[in-house]
Amino acid sequence: MVCCVKANAYGHGLNDIALKLAEKSDALAVASLEEGRQIREAGVEGPILLLEGLFQPSELMEVEELDLWLVVHNELQLSWLCSSEPIAAIRLWVKVDTGMHRLGFTKTSAVEAYERLKATGWQDMVLMTHFACAEELDSEFTDTQIENFAVVSKQIQARKSLANSAAVIAWPQTHEDWVRPGFMLYGLSPFGENHPSSRELDPVMTFTSEVIALKELSCGESVGYNRCWIAERPSRIAIVAVGYGDGYPRNVENGTPIIVGGQRARVVGRVSMDLLSVDVTDLQNIEIGTSVELWGKQLSVNEVASFSGYSAYELLTRMPLRAKRVYLA
Ligand SMILES: Cc1ncc(COP(=O)(O)O)c(C=O)c1O
Repeated sequence: MVCCVKANAYGHGLNDIALKLAEKSDALAVASLEEGRQIREAGVEGPILLLEGLFQPSELMEVEELDLWLVVHNELQLSWLCSSEPIAAIRLWVKVDTGMHRLGFTKTSAVEAYERLKATGWQDMVLMTHFACAEELDSEFTDTQIENFAVVSKQIQARKSLANSAAVIAWPQTHEDWVRPGFMLYGLSPFGENHPSSRELDPVMTFTSEVIALKELSCGESVGYNRCWIAERPSRIAIVAVGYGDGYPRNVENGTPIIVGGQRARVVGRVSMDLLSVDVTDLQNIEIGTSVELWGKQLSVNEVASFSGYSAYELLTRMPLRAKRVYLA
């Protein structure tokens, strides 16, 4: 299994998560040489795969020094590798574009790329592809991609890697030699919080803060910038010390769920940089210091995302450094 820790380990903190996941996986995957270097220097000893491969031919030397693995996805990278001495320790992952139309060789050029690398002396390669919509269970497109991949894989002798989280969960025929999950490793289902897989996963990130002020509002009074929410009844509003500067999305709708003192409540008014407000009129035992969960074990980030216009992937990966991370295990 290759565990994806790119994008700061989906916002969870690259070094700590990489070191932990390295103990439990066969390899880690990152997007860039910088991320690869960072986790190697942090102490990761096992294989690290660069999912976008080389950006410059000059990077090959550092890739060798850091003992990384490389994806090869285009003609330029192929020409750099075919004009270099093969390096036995670098495992190449030849990427086939089976329908995502982002990175990868076409079906025909993938076979040619593989043959050229082999003729140059590169050995021990993996053939990979990436799914465009494996989380859409009623789409036939994943089957099309699987078929396209088979056309290539039949023609060459290489190990195979297709599955992201959605495919690990729902497309067992794609598991092959190497699965490459990301999102699900962080305890979240790519199918959303209502899918059965969600109940078997335990969110890794719990995003918390606390109440730092309480306001009693009369009917017609508002809270926050631009008066985006106006009390329709006498209301008790808890002011929470967290805002978009901490990674909570500014554009959530009035009524976005939030957990205050273990009880479900609703965000009201505009989220500001360091603060947000919650209607706690109907809640018991709320006081200054009461704990607040923005998302985590009691409230899925998938659910919050659905009120924000962002995907849960984005909410996680855009967590800023300012949000202090505490690792419990
Ligand atoms: C090539 C590749 N493999 C695997 C993954 C992991 O995907 P997920 O986080 O949906 O499991 C990604 C993520 O974007 C990716 O780009």
